[in-house]
Amino acid sequence: MEKPTVVVGVSGGIAAYKAATLCSLLNKQGYEVRVLMTEHATRFIQPLTFQSLTKHPVIVDTFAEPDPSEIAHIAVADAASAYVIAPATANVLGKLAHGLADDMVTTTALAVQAPLIVAPAMNVHMYEHPAVQENLQVLRERGAIIVDPGSGLLACGYTGTGRLAEPEDIVRVVEAVLKRRRDLAGQTVVVTAGPTIEDIDPVRYLSNASSGKMGYAIAQAASNRGAKVRLLSGPVALKPVPGVEMTYVRSTQDLLEAALQAMSAADVFISAAAPADFRPASKLDHKWKKSQGVPVLTLESTPDVLAAVSERKKSGQTLVGFAAETNQAVENGREKLNRKNLDLVVVNDVSEPGSGFAVDTNKVVLVGKDQSQALPLMSKSEVADLILDEVLRIRARQGSQGDVSKQRTPKEGFGNDGSLEERFSKQRTPKEGLSSGGGQTP
Ligand SMILES: Cc1cc2nc3c(=O)[nH]c(=O)nc-3n(C[C@H](O)[C@H](O)[C@H](O)COP(=O)(O)O)c2cc1C
Repeated sequence: MEKPTVVVGVSGGIAAYKAATLCSLLNKQGYEVRVLMTEHATRFIQPLTFQSLTKHPVIVDTFAEPDPSEIAHIAVADAASAYVIAPATANVLGKLAHGLADDMVTTTALAVQAPLIVAPAMNVHMYEHPAVQENLQVLRERGAIIVDPGSGLLACGYTGTGRLAEPEDIVRVVEAVLKRRRDLAGQTVVVTAGPTIEDIDPVRYLSNASSGKMGYAIAQAASNRGAKVRLLSGPVALKPVPGVEMTYVRSTQDLLEAALQAMSAADVFISAAAPADFRPASKLDHKWKKSQGVPVLTLESTPDVLAAVSERKKSGQTLVGFAAETNQAVENGREKLNRKNLDLVVVNDVSEPGSGFAVDTNKVVLVGKDQSQALPLMSKSEVADLILDEVLRIRARQGSQGDVSKQRTPKEGFGNDGSLEERFSKQRTPKEGLSSGGGQTP
């Protein structure tokens, strides 16, 4: 089988020398490695080093065009199964975020269709500068995978965050990304996200603190992995996820209707929304005036969206729910799993700092029918990928693959391909800093 090609872009920082180790490790893992450098990178390390390690010429000059039968930056972009920029200078991050393309590394970045993995490295003050952080955010939202820098003593003499992630960790990220790529192709994934709103009068409503970030991260991750994704979103302050069919809803009743309609075509339904549980028994059609005194609200229950979806679940469909808990995560998660006939429950530990609503990180316990696994605090996009990994494992065990409308009969007898514990013990720890893009960020 042809070896996947990993293109490595090297820009001009002190850590450029570590890119040599990265290339060497990628080679050892069996990848074809092609190196591109900025002019400034060549001030730190010679192209000859990379040429010797990779057995391929290194391209620095976009206009050199050694092979007249092709255009170098397009050919190398087309060949890439992944494009890793390591180290990525503050300058290169700025160019990537703004679509500038005035050297081989950034020009190729625009032409590449493969996943973009960016490993920044710089002085701590540069790294923490709002411009750099905003550029990283833009890249994340666009789907780039950022391998966060480590902390420690930096070459500039400062101690802080900015040290290039270890080459071994970058290789692990490359491997995870390549493995996951397109593994949801042919599957339709429906995700619900955000809160719902129950109107009291034309200007007041009942709702909750859900930001939608977790659901948006799942939609982005599923789309990155080749799924056809439909995102049913309550009112949130997040940008639509590129490449995903967006449906906006307001009330729990709206969500119920959209969910039931979407469920019929779903292979996987992931309920990450936090629908309002109660609504006013009647909505006032005019604004309640303060002069009228304090209104007395009579509430009623809203429909249980997940229960309704579950009732319509057919064989071949995988149903994932979320539960926000403060204690007894596994017990409460399993109770919900059984009660609502789910395949997986993701229990949010909302008592944990950095977990739950409105933040970019989450600490969850994945509760399956027989096993459960507590994951450490990690970015919502990482959690999203681990949920999808687990969904795929469940579907493989159920014998469910692809288009549910064409496949309703589960095949029996698929082997157990490893427990949750085995799988997650092989996962990276959060300090390794894989974070991928999309709606997880807002
Ligand atoms: C000794 C030295 C070390 C540098 N190290 C870094 C670094 O680690 N990260 C960074 O973003 N810029 C660093 N710079 C600044 C970049 O080299 C400079 O911004 C340059 O324009 C980047 O060019 P490039 O992004 O085209 O490679 C360094 C500069 C010098 C002189």
